[in-house]
Amino acid sequence: MHIDDALRARKSIRAFRPDPIPLDLVNEILETASLAPSGTNVQPWKVHVVTGEARRRLVAEVLAHRETGPDDSGSEFPRLSKRKEPFLSRMRKLGKDMYSLLGIPKGDESANWRQWGRNYMFFDAPIGLIFSVDKDLGYMGFVDIGIYMQTLMLVAKSRGLDSCAQGAWNNYWTVTRRVLNIPEDEYIVCGMSLGYADETAPVNTLVSEREPLSSFAAFHGFE
Ligand SMILES: Cc1cc2nc3c(=O)[nH]c(=O)nc-3n(C[C@H](O)[C@H](O)[C@H](O)COP(=O)(O)O)c2cc1C
Repeated sequence: MHIDDALRARKSIRAFRPDPIPLDLVNEILETASLAPSGTNVQPWKVHVVTGEARRRLVAEVLAHRETGPDDSGSEFPRLSKRKEPFLSRMRKLGKDMYSLLGIPKGDESANWRQWGRNYMFFDAPIGLIFSVDKDLGYMGFVDIGIYMQTLMLVAKSRGLDSCAQGAWNNYWTVTRRVLNIPEDEYIVCGMSLGYADETAPVNTLVSEREPLSSFAAFHGFE
């Protein structure tokens, strides 16, 4: 697959078929993605791959905690604080488009809560990935994880697999840390669903927009 085709074909999938993925294929995708660059080649990505009983237990514990546990839903590191423009409008557009495809009316808090909860079921994907990074690496470690994740999503797409990156998984990190035995000196940065898209699900028809080049690039020194 040409790199441009993989880039255009990849999009976030939020409803998966339950079909299992052979372990060899998962290994191949994770290993190929490790060709991703990282600052001073530290290769800080740690990936917890969950399926079967381990996946079931993680999902059950996080969902139970979400319903009944203490309200410690924030991430361990600073995340979104004040929502400002132009980001706010882009977030709102995505939310509006997605919730309209899902048939959830604005203001329906309980339907919203349930739909957001599907993040913690990996949207029914057979494989869940949790990415963590050593806390000592600071912000650059997060950059490296992001590059690894996108490389992984493109490698997966080139092999017919779909994905959804999920910042939602840096919430409820206390539970994820305990269930997956993730050391205290690592941040749980993100999660990801991996599997085959359910082509019949309306939510998967969502196509997110991109801003024009002129809105984010500044050119200096060109004639
Ligand atoms: C770091 C990161 C975290 C994300 N977290 C979530 C998430 O928790 N839940 C979700 O449904 N989508 C999540 N997404 C998907 C974004 O909403 C999506 O990438 C964006 O709207 C662009 O759409 P596309 O991936 O279809 O191109 C995340 C994406 C990234 C890169």
